[in-house]
Amino acid sequence: EAPIRVGLLGAGTVGSQTARLLVEQRDELSQRIGRDIELVGVACLDPDEVDFPWIDRSLLTSDTMAVATNADIVVELIGGLEPARTFVLAAIESGASVVTANKALLAKYGPEIYQAAEAKGVDIYFEAAVGGAIPIVRPLRESLVGDKVTSMLGIVNGTTNYILDEMTTKGLDFDVALKDAQAKGYAEADPTGDIEGHDAANKAAIMATLGFHANVGIDDVTVEGITKVTADDIAAATAEHKVVKLLAVVENGETGVSARVYPALIDENHPLASVHGSFNAVFVKAEAADDLMFYGRGAGGAPTASAVVGDVVTVARHIAQGCTGPAITLYNDLPKAPIEAS
Ligand code: HSE
Repeated sequence: EAPIRVGLLGAGTVGSQTARLLVEQRDELSQRIGRDIELVGVACLDPDEVDFPWIDRSLLTSDTMAVATNADIVVELIGGLEPARTFVLAAIESGASVVTANKALLAKYGPEIYQAAEAKGVDIYFEAAVGGAIPIVRPLRESLVGDKVTSMLGIVNGTTNYILDEMTTKGLDFDVALKDAQAKGYAEADPTGDIEGHDAANKAAIMATLGFHANVGIDDVTVEGITKVTADDIAAATAEHKVVKLLAVVENGETGVSARVYPALIDENHPLASVHGSFNAVFVKAEAADDLMFYGRGAGGAPTASAVVGDVVTVARHIAQGCTGPAITLYNDLPKAPIEAS
């Protein structure tokens, strides 16, 4: 039987680690799938610039559309809205299932992409889009689908959590801490999205969509980032035994759905206060399950690649079995609750 072909779009921090896991663990992954799986192409802007010992040079190409339309599973790790959306829709149209870590894409065009995948009978999986390595998308999409999720509270951006942590514990200035976060591979290529709260807002939209079965897009999220947080603010918080954390808060209350991201003061004894560095955590409240907590590395190449490759194996199993995962049902037409200023 022919191998299941995986095409990879993007060879950056996460893409290169995804390629490494797919190549180095090919035999184990193939055993778990029950069919051979093969990386057949890696699309990147400049193949001459990419040099990883585990990526065979012959796989590299700048012809992204060719990779997107000649595989059974297309892994989109380009990020951003366009051209990522065009490649993802083309992949689906070609009959490929898609795995992506692209939270901006899903927070903006999720419904269009979910519907395209369902119409074509292929999978769309995106565990890495929220909370990096943390299993949170699958629990919301599958494990908790029988319950009623009422709220979620999360630290879902590693860069800002790392920066706020460094400012608090080492007294570093914002700029120094940001450079450090970038050097460690946590920040997006353009860190504006991290520090202005937009990355966390994208994740909040996805969490609300999955948890509440409602169409919550990026434009429904109220956002305030950490760029206005000063060393004085941090010192004042510390003096009051509090810490500053960038929180994503999504609620499904009596008046409707709300989603917001803002720098919050939380008590130093609160469990979220001990989420440090690039770690993320998400608290979920559900009517029957009560409180759940998810914790782990929310950013970085290898942790994020773990979630991506988990999706690739899941999708490959579906292909081997001739089925797909659950559709993403957005049946709730919930009113958007007004957000009070924080
Ligand atoms: N830049 C993101 C973060 C990466 O810092 O959390 C994961 O989405």
